[in-house]
Amino acid sequence: MRKLTKQQKDELEAIYQFYLNNENVKRMNEIQMHRGSSCYIHSFRVAKLCVKKAARYQRYTFEDLKNVLVASILHDYYLYDWREHHELKKKHGRRHPLVACANAVRDFNIPIEVQEIIKTHMWPLTPKLYPKTKEL
Ligand SMILES: [Fe+2]
Ligand SMILES: [Fe+2]
Repeated sequence: MRKLTKQQKDELEAIYQFYLNNENVKRMNEIQMHRGSSCYIHSFRVAKLCVKKAARYQRYTFEDLKNVLVASILHDYYLYDWREHHELKKKHGRRHPLVACANAVRDFNIPIEVQEIIKTHMWPLTPKLYPKTKEL
């Protein structure tokens, strides 16, 4: 994509801030990720990296970039601690993209493209859920 305009940067920042300050999204703070980090910290780190990388691709439109931003923030929006549920431990890797997507659809008005990215973000661990969008 071409260089972002000030208006586009502001729009991305507004989306970022909306999710950062959302009470439902903040629930990811209670979910532990790797090395003492929370799901919340992890997701916003991923979002920054993905948008930075995606902004360099010529084939991406601004709409694509917005989808990448929202999908990366919500990709691990599964809202349960798999360590606390013995039966979830084994299935977590494959199951959590679908749970995250269902939660995201329930709590936010997200387009189908964002849903697809969330559902397929663990591919190839999920062979049947493979990426169909160009964002991945
Ligand atoms: Fe994940
Ligand atoms: Fe993740």
